Amino acid sequence: MLSRELINKPLSEYTDQEYKSAMKDMREMKECCPKKGMIKLIKHQADQFNLRGFQMFEKMIDLTFCYLTRRPFKEGDQVYSYTLQWFTYFLEKLIVERKNTDVLGEIMTEFSFFDKSFQGQCMTPPDLSKMVNELLNANREWKEENLISDFCCGTGSMLLPKLGMPKEDHLIILINDRDKDMTKACFIQLWLNAQFAFLEKRFKQITIFGYVSDALIEYSQGGCKRLVGATISDNGIQIDNFNH
Ligand SMILES: C[S@@+](CC[C@H](N)C(=O)[O-])C[C@H]1O[C@@H](n2cnc3c(N)ncnc32)[C@H](O)[C@@H]1O
Repeated sequence: MLSRELINKPLSEYTDQEYKSAMKDMREMKECCPKKGMIKLIKHQADQFNLRGFQMFEKMIDLTFCYLTRRPFKEGDQVYSYTLQWFTYFLEKLIVERKNTDVLGEIMTEFSFFDKSFQGQCMTPPDLSKMVNELLNANREWKEENLISDFCCGTGSMLLPKLGMPKEDHLIILINDRDKDMTKACFIQLWLNAQFAFLEKRFKQITIFGYVSDALIEYSQGGCKRLVGATISDNGIQIDNFNH
C-alpha cells in the first residue's frame, strides 16, 4: 500500500521505481478479497495518519456518508481521498457480493469498536437477522406501504434482510441510534442496497429517514433529531439533509 508521502506526491514527479510500485499496489488492491482488503487498508492508513484503526474506520464512515448525501467534506479531509477511494471500492464490492448483509458490522469487529463507551454495540449476526425477517414476513399481509424501523439500529443488521424480500411496493425505513456514526453506517448500507432492490424492480419506492436520538428519553419528549431523509423512486433520487 502506498505511503502517505507517495500519495501526496504528484504523479508527474514519481521516479520509475515509485511508478512501478504504485502500479503494483493498484493491481494487488484490485485482486484482494474485499473484506481483507478493507481491513488492511484501514489498518495501514490509520498508521500513516497516527490514528487508531477505529478512528480511521469512523472517518471513512463519515466521508462515505457525506459523499452519498452530497454534503461538503470538512476542511482538511481531502488528505483522506486515497483511503476513501479504496474504502468505497471495497465497500461496493462487498455489497455486491453479499447483498442485504451487515458487512460494515463485521468490519467494525476487527477494530475493537464494539462496546465503545459501553453502548452495547454488538450487532445481530446476519443469519439470525435473516431468519427473524423471514419469520416476521411468513404470514404477513402484503400492503402497498410498509414501514419498518429500528430505534437502536447499530449498523443495520436487523433491517438489511428486508431489502432482499421478493416483492414489496413502497417501503419506508426509520433508523435511529444515539451514536451518530451508527446511524451513518446504517444509512450507508441501507441506501446502497436500496438502490439494488429498486433497480431489480422489487420496490417501487424506498424512503429512509435517519435520526440520532436517545430512544429512551428523546422519543417520548418528541425531540428526536433527524439527520437525513432519502428516497429512490421512478422520479429519481431525493436527498434531504438536516443540520445535526
Ligand atoms: C446491540 S446494538 C444492536 C443493533 C441492531 N439493532 C442489531 O440488532 O444488530 C445496540 C445499538 O443501540 C444503540 N443504543 C444503545 N442505547 C440507546 C438508546 N438509549 N437510544 C438509542 N440508541 C441506543 C447503541 O449505540 C448500539 O448501536
